[in-house]
Amino acid sequence: MGAGQPLNLFDYEALAEARLPAPLWDFIVDGAGDRITLAENRRAFDRIGIRPRMLVDVSRIDTATTVLGSPVEAPILVAPSGPHGAIHPHGELATVEAAARAGLLMVATSGSNRTIEAIAAAAARPLWMQLYLLPERPRTEALVRRAEASGCRAIVLTVDSPRFGRKERTLRSEDDFDWPAPANMADLPPPTAPSLRGAPATWADVDWLRAITRLPVVLKGLLTAEDAALAVEHEVAGIVVSNHGGRQLDGVLASIDALPEIVGAAQGRCEIYLDGGVRRGTDALKALALGARAVLIGRPALWGLAVGGAEGVFEVLQMLKAELAMAMALAGRPTLASIDASLVTPISGR
Ligand code: FNR
Repeated sequence: MGAGQPLNLFDYEALAEARLPAPLWDFIVDGAGDRITLAENRRAFDRIGIRPRMLVDVSRIDTATTVLGSPVEAPILVAPSGPHGAIHPHGELATVEAAARAGLLMVATSGSNRTIEAIAAAAARPLWMQLYLLPERPRTEALVRRAEASGCRAIVLTVDSPRFGRKERTLRSEDDFDWPAPANMADLPPPTAPSLRGAPATWADVDWLRAITRLPVVLKGLLTAEDAALAVEHEVAGIVVSNHGGRQLDGVLASIDALPEIVGAAQGRCEIYLDGGVRRGTDALKALALGARAVLIGRPALWGLAVGGAEGVFEVLQMLKAELAMAMALAGRPTLASIDASLVTPISGR
């Protein structure tokens, strides 16, 4: 392998930083407030030790699984994020093509720079759509109908953003950049209110959403057992344990630290996923051990997109898949079913 060849996701981060205009880079890597949660998302993984088993037959590693019934080659999904269209001219079409090639599933944002129809056509594999509630229900419903008609397999309602977190690096530089428009909004019924931004959602909105669609509803952004218990009561199909990559309320727990209580509260009644700081196969392994069915990656997909378009995203995803398979082999856990809580132990003092 030649010098300068990226060997891990952090190498992609460095390469992407060198390529992207500063305001775009600032927006991608930013976190809210003092960026404590942003840093914690990484540090918390380092505080978890792995207890590997030896002399297990690991000649064949199987990472394939399903998420809400959709097959994926590994328990790794692409998190909803933007703005793909500013990072690469093919925008979400490149990202979704890469995810499909890697046998993985992407969650498209409702604020994507390409329409959900175009993204679904390029996916040629199961796709989920993330949703922020719009201030008017007819507009939100129109978006849900379009996701259904495009063949999306789930709606991921992001619930950690009643307001958008204050990201100060972004605030300092965002005016110096021409941001591409969200493509889906142009084709919706016109707004009655001037705001195109999300509306604060409540549990009543979760019930409303469940009532208007037969698609499974996943809540993204829960961090407590209390909310996980309510989510189960409101019969959601899944929960993404997430702090929005440290971009909303600074000071909240790292997602991996919140995972065990959520898994405990959900008691297997819905699927649990995790995002926030997943950069290594060993991070994914730790999350799986603590009860996640799959992890999502946010920023690393954007780094891949910046470095090499669809090919870059594909390489990032393949790298993470390979690292997970390697970690499973070295930990003596050849199948996902063999990964359990006995694989990890907290490390104090880190
Ligand atoms: C996001 N995220 C996000 N989440 C969401 O539900 N809707 C959205 O539109 C966005 N947009 C967005 C933009 C950018 C630039 C980033 C970095 C993130 C959050 C995302 O889905 C995910 O929760 C985090 O990115 C996961 O953390 P890592 O993997 O980036 O550390």
